[in-house]
Amino acid sequence: MSGPAVHLPGDTPVAFPDAKRAAVDAYLEQVDFDQSVPIDGLTEAMRYSLLAGGKRVRPVLALSTAHALGHDPAAVMPYAAALELIHTYSLIHDDLPAMDDDDLRRGKPTCHVAYGENVAILAGDALFAEALRLITSFQSGEPAHVIAAIDELLAATGAAGMVGGQFIDIADQVETAEELTQMHELKTGRLIRVSVKGAAVALGADTGTVENLGRFGAELGVLFQIIDDILDVTGSDADLGKPSGSDERHGKATYVSVFGLDRARELADESYRKVCGLLDSIEFRGDASDLRSVSAYIYGRDR
Ligand code: IPE
Ligand code: IPE
Ligand code: MG
Ligand code: MG
Ligand code: MG
Repeated sequence: MSGPAVHLPGDTPVAFPDAKRAAVDAYLEQVDFDQSVPIDGLTEAMRYSLLAGGKRVRPVLALSTAHALGHDPAAVMPYAAALELIHTYSLIHDDLPAMDDDDLRRGKPTCHVAYGENVAILAGDALFAEALRLITSFQSGEPAHVIAAIDELLAATGAAGMVGGQFIDIADQVETAEELTQMHELKTGRLIRVSVKGAAVALGADTGTVENLGRFGAELGVLFQIIDDILDVTGSDADLGKPSGSDERHGKATYVSVFGLDRARELADESYRKVCGLLDSIEFRGDASDLRSVSAYIYGRDR
């Protein structure tokens, strides 16, 4: 029996599902934050960060999950867009002077540099609530499934999820490899995992499939942050659209600071093999090729 299909960097060109990314961008562009009250400065800051051109990995994962499950990807677009609003809020707050104190994001001055810290904090707050409103207003499906998907999203982003991971990061309490992996699982992994698992829940997938997708998404999330840590050392500001070397400047515990660059790369290889194995172990009714492409992209990306 042959092993899972693994594409190492330089092996095959990594094609991202660009049509899905374009559909996400078009949807985000038309999201209408209520303009009936005098909040122009706030919505401008929200749209500035949201539409600055992120990779859209999380929403594309959600659409690709729907595709793999045999649904029209558009069926989860409001949920997918909500993931990107929440991700953008997390970036705005992550960049604040009290957090990572970075001044470049998505190739542009960070939200607080462009609009001030006070507006940036509020833009992040508002993006979180507007994300939920996108789902409650526009996500179709069985109400019980949609509520369960919201529950997954809140658990993934809350105190024992993404925000908890950010807390562990700023509290400087990572000493062991296990603690490092747990921080990665939380601060980045949980939102990536829910991009896959939450979409499956919203579509009413069976419990076994949801659990298998959850395991795949969890490993993909850890891989995502290992690569992010490596790129912080090996990438340029221009490629990344954010300041390289930020982790070292701030004395952050990362896969590179804990294991060294070579071992971090090996751990990324191991993680990617696990990702491919987990994906190959799931029987899909639809077309899982975009889930495979996004996984390969996350592993092989240079930005
Ligand atoms: C950066 O996320 C923050 C992390 C969770 C590591 P991305 O690398 O997905 O950033 P964008 O959305 O493409 O800007
Ligand atoms: C941020 O991790 C994770 C979240 C925003 C939740 P990083 O601090 O490593 O992300 P970058 O490198 O600034 O994008
Ligand atoms: Mg950070
Ligand atoms: Mg940061
Ligand atoms: Mg980083």
